Amino acid sequence: MPGAKITAVGCYVPERILTNQDLERMVDTSDAWIVERTGIRKRHIADPSMATSDMAVEAAREALLARGMDPADVEVIIVCTVTPDMMFPSTACLVQDRLGCRHAWGFDLIAACSGFVYGLTTAAHFIRAGAYRRILVIGADTMSRIVNYRDRTTCVLFGDAAGAFLVEPTEEGEVGFIDSYNIIDGSGAPYLNMPAGGSRMPPSHETVEKGLHYVHQDGQQVFKYAVRTMYETCQLVLDRNSLRPEDIGVFLPHQANKRIITAVASRLGLPEDRVIINIDEYGNTTAATIPLAARDAMRAGKLRRGTLTLIAAVGAGYTAGVNLWRWEID
Ligand code: ACO
Repeated sequence: MPGAKITAVGCYVPERILTNQDLERMVDTSDAWIVERTGIRKRHIADPSMATSDMAVEAAREALLARGMDPADVEVIIVCTVTPDMMFPSTACLVQDRLGCRHAWGFDLIAACSGFVYGLTTAAHFIRAGAYRRILVIGADTMSRIVNYRDRTTCVLFGDAAGAFLVEPTEEGEVGFIDSYNIIDGSGAPYLNMPAGGSRMPPSHETVEKGLHYVHQDGQQVFKYAVRTMYETCQLVLDRNSLRPEDIGVFLPHQANKRIITAVASRLGLPEDRVIINIDEYGNTTAATIPLAARDAMRAGKLRRGTLTLIAAVGAGYTAGVNLWRWEID
């Protein structure tokens, strides 16, 4: 069975910045509250002309360039997103056309903040099955389009961005993908969702007036579930691979709230300097947080060939996932 490895990373972050001070002028909040309760200082917001597929294309181009790969050689495109350009066609189709991936198929994967982890798991198993050799996994979300900038409990949390990994078979002596553990728990659906716009509640004047096309969240419920589940799923993966916390070189957690990350890392006993936190700069970019964290960890020299990398996310659904990879990029 061939192994799977990550061979390139690419990201796109919009230039426009929305700071906590900007938000102080929009809703009843304060920089001090946002920093203390979430760790976020700013987030990046896409220009009105830009949609999710545009950011996804930019991130994918950067990954292909880093690998020197011709877009025509890509075989599968998985776009993880909860903010597709439109309900159909899928964002993957739009990205395939723009990139010129003439020989690829692909699809969108809806798993909110766990999307990228699910996408990585899928790509790893496609490669291990021997079915495909060159897979683009893209996490892209334009959260600013579904956030109510009059709701202080959600608008301070989210930002826009995209990130992409290329996944290919390992070569001799390489390890790459080691393990994954993913779960869903639909009993969490009432606590984090976008109520309208689907088949249950199609768009109408009423859904617009009631603000039902925005993110709705019971923050405390989600917070408690996220801390408990991210800890339990990570611990399960550590245990079944006979790993101690100090064996993990880098922890790449989904960036939803700095307090969730530090609580999980401390329960797991992970040394602080191995935990990648960049939520201060980008906020929660949903499916894009993990590639962004990987890129920043590579830039900081923390993530390099041989690093044992634990990746974890929890999100709307509920969804949760953990991946364990040995990093194989120099
Ligand atoms: N500014 C100032 N005050 C605020 C703000 C704000 N932006 N937001 C809420 N408050 C107030 C509340 O109204 C409340 O006031 P009250 O006591 O007078 O009622 C008080 O602050 C405390 O509110 P809590 O909800 O208890 O605050 P908490 O510490 O839980 O933080 C937060 C809220 C940041 C949303 C947190 O619960 C959280 O991070 N939840 C998890 C988010 C998450 O992980 N989402 C999953 C990923 S998203 C996805 O999958 C798409």
